Amino acid sequence: MTSLVQWVHLVSAVVGVGGIAFVLVILLPSLQVLADEQRNQLMKVVMGRFRWANWSAIVLLIASGLYGIRARAWEAPWGPYWKWLTVKIVLAFCVFTISLLLTLPIQVLGRFRARREMWLAIALGAATVVILISAYLRGF
Ligand code: HEM
Repeated sequence: MTSLVQWVHLVSAVVGVGGIAFVLVILLPSLQVLADEQRNQLMKVVMGRFRWANWSAIVLLIASGLYGIRARAWEAPWGPYWKWLTVKIVLAFCVFTISLLLTLPIQVLGRFRARREMWLAIALGAATVVILISAYLRGF
């Protein structure tokens, strides 16, 4: 990847994964001090903002990631590098899917959102593995 695209990829990863960690580890547990109505109001405002930050990060991660594949991975033969990159991309898309399902403003997804903490924890765990694989890929 060129330095600029690499920077875009890293900043988007920090914003995307950092946002998920913030909501799960800091925001949700702190909401307990609020009354139900205030809690719902705050969550509505926060999720509205989180949605745009998260979706922007997803678009930029995919665009810069595809550029990275073209620039760095394309010529590599099928082997461990491509296998781990494939695992990484599948896991990244699981994280994106969870993020989208949690933030899309659609009523039908209410049941999914009722278990928000669990899905965020799964997304954060998968994102951590994605970062681990990315660090490993640098060694090739
Ligand atoms: C949760 C989503 C993602 C996270 C947290 C993430 C994170 C990272 C990180 C930290 C790096 C290392 C960058 C560096 O060393 O400068 C990286 C590299 C890379 N990422 Fe991602 N990424 C994500 C999604 C994607 C997607 C969707 C693609 C492809 C469409 C992709 C393709 C790549 C490529 C090709 C590299 C370069 C690997 C190498 O060093 O050979 N990433 N990513």
